[in-house]
Amino acid sequence: MRASVTAHRDFTISRIDDRLYSAFLEHLGRAIYTGIYEPGHPTADKNGMRGDVAQLVRDLRIPYVRYPGGNFVSAYNWEDGVGPREQRPTRLDLAWHTSDSNAVGVHEFYDWCETVGTKPMLAINLGSRGLDEARNFVEYVNGPTGSYWGDLRKKNGRAEPFDVRLWCLGNEMDGPWQVGHKTADEYGRLALETAKALRAFDKSLELVVCGSSNSDMATYPEWERVVLEHTYDAVDHISLHMYFNNRANHTANYLALNEKLDRYIGTIASTISFVKAKKRSKRNVTISFDEWNVWYHSNAADRATLDGNNGWPHAPRLLEDAYNFEDVLQVGCILNTFIRRSDVVRIACIAQLVNVIAPILTEPGGPAWKQTIYFPYYFASVFGRGTALNLTVDSPGYDADVADNVPYLDVSGVHDEAAGTLTFFAVNRHASETLELSIDLLGFGGPGRVIDHQVLTHADLKVANTLANPDAVAPKTGSGVAIDGSKLTGRLPPYSYQMIRVQL
Ligand code: AHR
Repeated sequence: MRASVTAHRDFTISRIDDRLYSAFLEHLGRAIYTGIYEPGHPTADKNGMRGDVAQLVRDLRIPYVRYPGGNFVSAYNWEDGVGPREQRPTRLDLAWHTSDSNAVGVHEFYDWCETVGTKPMLAINLGSRGLDEARNFVEYVNGPTGSYWGDLRKKNGRAEPFDVRLWCLGNEMDGPWQVGHKTADEYGRLALETAKALRAFDKSLELVVCGSSNSDMATYPEWERVVLEHTYDAVDHISLHMYFNNRANHTANYLALNEKLDRYIGTIASTISFVKAKKRSKRNVTISFDEWNVWYHSNAADRATLDGNNGWPHAPRLLEDAYNFEDVLQVGCILNTFIRRSDVVRIACIAQLVNVIAPILTEPGGPAWKQTIYFPYYFASVFGRGTALNLTVDSPGYDADVADNVPYLDVSGVHDEAAGTLTFFAVNRHASETLELSIDLLGFGGPGRVIDHQVLTHADLKVANTLANPDAVAPKTGSGVAIDGSKLTGRLPPYSYQMIRVQL
């Protein structure tokens, strides 16, 4: 089976915002406790942060990490997580039916961000709380000393403002499961007034307003229209979330789901344009896709805790999806979609980062290791920076539940002008046929040479990287990709993910 692609230097989509490769950490399960934070672990630093986890995170070069939730944030009191640890209260977490010692709060999280080379994107509680607490939180984090909140921060060990630029105005406020769930009008009004207060403090803050929790919500996409009509001129991004599953165990349908993701992004891009026109605004609101991932493997195991049958455990195993090889292909396709829609998606956060639906798993007191999905995320984050190319793709396709003629080849291309490289991320969705790939490279000057070719493939779609076998799925250097004149050719095995890099 053949697939041909044309890449032209001048035929581009957008300069990719590096924040497309961001992540998310919630006070949920073992994301924080025995995830990033485990005093007494052999690799823990003086702050109790695990060094082995920090290194795996650092390698991913993550621009921003969203924190502290998620559903958790909608009943969270940020004040519980500051001040002397021994005085911090243990609180019941209404979102996940667990308890939280508050041993980690905004100070500890910020310090960890510095350790791993990332920046915080903080979420505000607009569920159980409102404008005043939001304003106080932002002033505590960013305000000058000599003011009440700035002085309290100083007393708690940090005189210098944290200077956090990116703030989420609540989380999934359209969801009936959310503490403080609101209608679009109720939320839109609150988000607007909160945004105005935050901008009165610092007009340069970047603000993210809540869009839909997923595109199957009954209120989608009317929610976005109403919320944006309230907030358009006061916010910078609208947040979208989407989780993917293969509960039906139908690989072809599963691997077509990024077509639905693409339509979701397109619909909200159109809604943004509609509201912009209606408001006669010159402002460009963009999308923060601040929760995405595969999530379904752990659903059954979590039921008892979420139903409250296990009391209020602290940091239990929750949402610990063990990702398989099939999920590598899915995550590769999702990231390709974000690259192809980088004209409107400015921020995207893999949800989450450690233990909870995460590319990294840990064992308390034991090792940390890379789940299968670590690899496509790593390749995109490290090598997917630059300008997204508008590729012409000619590939045979198949009909799936969510779309017809889904191409067997899912591909994105990134031109890094500064490094003089071209990088292609390609997934062969075919179960049994190799794709004979050819890519015409036009307008890039000389022929170029292949400097890296990484392949992920496995005979067993369901194999996972476990504590006992952490390296079952790992990338291997590929072979057979060649450039002749301006044509790159190669063979993509059935069900495979590839990264091909060309030095121009
Ligand atoms: O990431 C897990 C949960 O998924 C988040 O807390 C919530 O925002 C979403 O429903």
